[in-house]
Amino acid sequence: MFSDKAKEEIRQVFKKYPNKRSAVMDVLRIAQRERGGHIEKEDMEEIARLLGMQTVDVNAQAAFYTMYNVEKPVGKHHIQVCRNISCSLLGAENLIKHMEKELNIKVGETTPDKKFTLSTVECLGSCGTAPMMQINDDYYENLSAEKIDKILKDLK
Ligand code: FES
Repeated sequence: MFSDKAKEEIRQVFKKYPNKRSAVMDVLRIAQRERGGHIEKEDMEEIARLLGMQTVDVNAQAAFYTMYNVEKPVGKHHIQVCRNISCSLLGAENLIKHMEKELNIKVGETTPDKKFTLSTVECLGSCGTAPMMQINDDYYENLSAEKIDKILKDLK
């Protein structure tokens, strides 16, 4: 399942930890990138084998963190909007509605062209720049409807 490049990356990751099992989050991240944005059951079986873990334990790690998309393919651009307290107080709910309208999808859905998936998440640790969202690996902060329009236009 892993490309040669990913296998090499995993070998390097193993060097960072005294115990392979400690690398589970890094390897899940690599697996998700390899799959194009989500992780399948067979990936977790492979990761468990590589790390000497039970598949159920790898699955539990992946299921706990919202950054992993377990058995749920996402669009090319996975928009994750924070709706925790700071972001909510500064208008996250209105921004979510704005994006639903602009993308013509609801939270949890992917556009028919598979370009965008819209999700909501809990605090992403950037409360000082609320309201904010993450798209793939990048943060977009101090958002407004106008800023979102430009971001979406640039990504389309
Ligand atoms: S509440 Fe949104 S980043 Fe913390």
